[in-house]
Amino acid sequence: MDSSPPLLFFAVLAGMVLFGAAKPPHIIFIVADDLGWNDVGWHNDQMFTPNLDKMARAGVILNSSYVQPVCTPSRNCFMTGYYPFHTGLQHEVIHPSHPGYLPANFTTLPQKLKQLGYTTHIVGKWHLGFCDWKYTPTYRGFDSFMGYYNGAEDYFTHIRDNGYDFRFNTSVHHPPEGEYSANVISARAVEILDSVDPVRDQLYLYLPFQSVHAPLEVPERYENIYANISTKSRRQYCGMVSALDEAVGNITSALRDRGFMDNALIVFTTDNGGPTFTAANNLPLRGAKTTLWEGGTRGAAFVYSDNLLQNDGYTNNEMIHAVDWFPTLLTLAGGKPDAGMDGVNQWPTVSSGAPSARSEFVYNIDDISKNAAIRVGQYKLIEGSPGNHNGWTPLPPLEASDMFNVSFPEHQLFDLQADPTEHHDIASDNPDVVSKLLGRLSFHKATMVPANFPPADPASDPKNFGGNWSPGWC
Ligand SMILES: *[C@@H]1O[C@H](CO)[C@@H](O)[C@H](O)[C@H]1NC(C)=O
Ligand SMILES: *[C@@H]1O[C@H](CO)[C@@H](O)[C@H](O)[C@H]1NC(C)=O
Ligand SMILES: *[C@@H]1O[C@H](CO)[C@@H](O)[C@H](O)[C@H]1NC(C)=O
Ligand SMILES: *[C@@H]1O[C@H](CO)[C@@H](O)[C@H](O)[C@H]1NC(C)=O
Ligand SMILES: *[C@@H]1O[C@H](CO)[C@@H](O)[C@H](O)[C@H]1NC(C)=O
Ligand SMILES: *[C@@H]1O[C@H](CO)[C@@H](O)[C@H](O)[C@H]1NC(C)=O
Repeated sequence: MDSSPPLLFFAVLAGMVLFGAAKPPHIIFIVADDLGWNDVGWHNDQMFTPNLDKMARAGVILNSSYVQPVCTPSRNCFMTGYYPFHTGLQHEVIHPSHPGYLPANFTTLPQKLKQLGYTTHIVGKWHLGFCDWKYTPTYRGFDSFMGYYNGAEDYFTHIRDNGYDFRFNTSVHHPPEGEYSANVISARAVEILDSVDPVRDQLYLYLPFQSVHAPLEVPERYENIYANISTKSRRQYCGMVSALDEAVGNITSALRDRGFMDNALIVFTTDNGGPTFTAANNLPLRGAKTTLWEGGTRGAAFVYSDNLLQNDGYTNNEMIHAVDWFPTLLTLAGGKPDAGMDGVNQWPTVSSGAPSARSEFVYNIDDISKNAAIRVGQYKLIEGSPGNHNGWTPLPPLEASDMFNVSFPEHQLFDLQADPTEHHDIASDNPDVVSKLLGRLSFHKATMVPANFPPADPASDPKNFGGNWSPGWC
């Protein structure tokens, strides 16, 4: 008798925690395409990104957040929690006419979140395969999809290689003529917010923007922000970044106006380092998109929330990898990641600055390019050629060799704590460290699945589908 009231009290309290205060948050996962390390206001005060800067500075700037060297593999990580060398997507990207895909047996993050009651939407770039309907977003966990299957299309016409590539769910869709992609994406995101109840529903909104991938196209008013930059391509690129910033600002204002911010987490990350060959910049980091150097793989990123981060307004230096978002967000949503997943839950790190849940990650293992890289603690080992852009490309108008096709020793070792810009290969002085990292790399290589990088298939030709890049040819 005596013990009943307290028990009841604790049961009610537990119920409140489960069903009241701890209601899983709305998750807004924003991915910029080809945004360089030195192309955001919090790393470079030449950039005009006031909306992103404000969230980055009030939230947690992730200073050691790693992505893959190119697009498809990073998206593979966000979507599955597995390294691309475990899904067959480790080589290059899925080209429009190649029947590549994220294998159907991998459960995606939105599929998991839907099981937990989330409403799930994607607006923007897919790039994880479309040769069969089963590989497309609305068959992979998303309630709705507005966007495109491939990459590098025109920002206004949505044409890539003579094929139109823009859909709403499964239907070909034509946004208002002449509307810039960043505006199309932000307008659709706001429309989604209008269809979701911030109190009753739980939203997962995945926003893989087209910005700021080539082609360099931007309405003049954004380019004009950078009138004092003399190089046209850099002016355009920076303008594209500012258009992205405005789009994100519009979405965050809408989140706030509609009451979502009371319980929301915003994640912002690039998909890979900046392509210095199309006016992006990664200084002080070495290399570019497509390479295993830090400039290709260490991504500009932050998290922001009004109230979910116990520690914010600082720069977090803990090691995080793109595969970690799946288990981190799934755990936050009340789910449980599968055992054996490559990603680890980093919520304690992200939300309160606890030490990283990992001390090691694999940059990539590419069995076709025959290169690989691994990080263990402060050390990074690169095997084979890191790629074709090996320099520290300065900001335009300065020009310096991008150091193409340099030949490197079979193994290079860098101490990223002492030398984050990879100036000093210390492999020959540290044979023991090299051998330890090689051992770890062999361990991971043993679990690799071969890259699935099929040749182009003429059956993909948009001519066969009324001029559209369409499923139905594999
Ligand atoms: C251009 O002007 C802005 C603002 O006045 C300044 O922050 C930036 O450093 C200038 N950029 C160059 C390349 O001079
Ligand atoms: C998917 O299937 C492949 C090939 O059979 C297998 O290697 C992989 O482990 C499977 N992955 C999952 C998550 O089921
Ligand atoms: C796409 O699907 C969503 C969710 O079912 C729906 O609300 C929306 O109206 C659909 N759009 C079109 C153009 O069919
Ligand atoms: C942001 O919203 C303003 C006001 O509605 C609009 O004029 C502008 O085009 C929007 N920009 C983007 C990139 O969505
Ligand atoms: C570097 O090598 C690749 C192939 O290995 C070649 O396609 C490319 O043109 C070369 N780049 C330069 C600038 O020489
Ligand atoms: C970010 O990381 C670099 C090393 O890569 C370090 O020099 C810098 O101090 C870090 N920034 C902050 C604010 O901790």
